[in-house]
Amino acid sequence: NPEPNPNLNRCLDVAIEAAKAAGAIHLFYRDQDFGVSSKSNFSDLVTIVDRKSEEKIREVIQLHFPDHAILGEEGGQDREADQLWVVDPLDGTVNYAHGFPFSCVSIGLEIQGVRSVGVVFDPNRNELFTAIRGQGAFLNGRRIQVSQTADLMAPALLATGFPYDVASDPTNLEKFARFLKLGLPVRRPGAAALDISYVACGRLDGFWEYKLNPWDVSAGLLILEEAGGAFSGFSGAPYRYGEPLLISNGKIQQQMLEVLK
Ligand code: IPD
Ligand code: CA
Ligand code: CA
Ligand code: CA
Repeated sequence: NPEPNPNLNRCLDVAIEAAKAAGAIHLFYRDQDFGVSSKSNFSDLVTIVDRKSEEKIREVIQLHFPDHAILGEEGGQDREADQLWVVDPLDGTVNYAHGFPFSCVSIGLEIQGVRSVGVVFDPNRNELFTAIRGQGAFLNGRRIQVSQTADLMAPALLATGFPYDVASDPTNLEKFARFLKLGLPVRRPGAAALDISYVACGRLDGFWEYKLNPWDVSAGLLILEEAGGAFSGFSGAPYRYGEPLLISNGKIQQQMLEVLK
């Protein structure tokens, strides 16, 4: 039987090694032909960099933990296991493809369904967000905390994201407009894992998005929690993968829920 509770510090080291190796691939291909093509529709892009980064991450994880399973955006899930690595090899592909430097690697480890280790690495700024459950969240080794903003109208700085099929699913446009009409600054940075990490370190106060996949949020949510942030569904009920996600510094969560409902 596999070890039920692998050494989390070792898992974090492996996640960091994999994230940095993938980040190096992102940087290497920045000035090369990275072969852009479309997936679900014309604006849903994928590049050689997405695929090569995921291959590299799988290689590093499998070398250290051959009996762990991996769920990756580009490669699917290979095996059932109590230890599941949840990987977005390149979050923010559209940004990357345009040379807009807001993209990252996201690697989470879930043990029996519990988010236990999280790493989000932004190679553009060489910023590494890390967390182990119960041990705090860090940016380049320094402890991070969510912002102190206690009132939405302070004003808070918010961010959101839209799915690739926004025309067929315009649900978020109306919510987006509600916050804008309140006069609030709302950004759409374009890499959900980094958006969540920015709430964790206090650069943003809140973020919401309708449709995200486990690989977009697994690492980020642990980093957020360990930095003192809060997250829920749009009704305030516990968040589950695939459902609308609201996150914040915790202090403005209720006010944001009021606007969203
Ligand atoms: C996307 C980004 C984007 C979000 C989309 C995601 P990808 O991930 O995180 O910010 O709005 O919902 O699919 O495809 O660049 O890895
Ligand atoms: Ca994608
Ligand atoms: Ca993503
Ligand atoms: Ca991706």
